[in-house]
Amino acid sequence: MRVEIRALIAEVDRALERYLPAEEAYPEEIYRAMRYSVFAGGKRLRPLLTLAAADIYSIPRQHALPVACALELVHTYSLVHDDLPALDNDDYRRGRLSNHRVFGEAIAILTGDALLTLAFELLARETAHLFPAATVVRLVQEMAAAAGAAGMIGGQVVDLLAEGRKVDAGTLDYIHRHKTGMLFSCAVRSGALLGEPSPGDLAQLNSFAEHAGLAFQIADDILDIVGDLEVLGKKPGSDLRKQKVTYPAMFGLAEAKRKATETLNSAKAALAPFGDKAGQLLVLADFLVNREC
Ligand code: IPE
Ligand code: IPE
Ligand code: MG
Ligand code: MG
Ligand code: MG
Repeated sequence: MRVEIRALIAEVDRALERYLPAEEAYPEEIYRAMRYSVFAGGKRLRPLLTLAAADIYSIPRQHALPVACALELVHTYSLVHDDLPALDNDDYRRGRLSNHRVFGEAIAILTGDALLTLAFELLARETAHLFPAATVVRLVQEMAAAAGAAGMIGGQVVDLLAEGRKVDAGTLDYIHRHKTGMLFSCAVRSGALLGEPSPGDLAQLNSFAEHAGLAFQIADDILDIVGDLEVLGKKPGSDLRKQKVTYPAMFGLAEAKRKATETLNSAKAALAPFGDKAGQLLVLADFLVNREC
């Protein structure tokens, strides 16, 4: 991973550290469980995308960090719930036992709920004095929509319904664009919205994010086959075990790899109008697909 990405991740982690209540706060059980999953070593891709998009508009890093961190909290909540026995039933996440394996299912459910609600509290509280009210309201609305039934949850529902079934490529596309793509788009859009972008710019960035999100999820599907528990931080073979609908399952490994590269290239092409200003986004784009974890 490039040095500048590492430095940005460290900055996101320091901000998250500030925003999450201490473990000793009462009731300790929930704060311990929230911190356990947030500080388990995620790649922080969604916050990095937000910071990179905000960078195009020269938004000070400190002003974009609350928005970036809110997205990471929504994402971490989605992982805690995704691993539950009722969903993917996975025992490992981010290189350690998954939340419900340590704290039990009830606390894991509540951990997800608490992270999701904290995300919106943080978003509203920490941006209100920095940006116009209309911008803050739009951020809240877009993040809620991206996380909800017309967004990530919709994708998760169809992902579950499709288990063990023969579905068409359109359904696979829906799953990936919603369960993963919507939060990716929200991350990029949120960073850009801080700079009051033109509709044309926002559409270009949205196109980048949609392609990047799809390429990222295809890479995730591939890593579930070729990845290694030690490096990946989660147990490969989960999709096969649950008979998930994935790109490699539907088209084969070679075609999935080709599709990931092609989609990545479409993502990068959408950044052309921004020239050097999109430098950070371009670096991240390559990392989304060419990774081992
Ligand atoms: C995993 O996302 C869940 C998917 C949407 C595929 P990441 O691979 O970004 O997970 P972390 O945050 O690095 O743990
Ligand atoms: C998860 O997709 C997407 C969300 C958590 C919203 P996956 O089920 O493929 O993610 P992993 O492989 O468990 O990280
Ligand atoms: Mg899943
Ligand atoms: Mg899963
Ligand atoms: Mg997966």
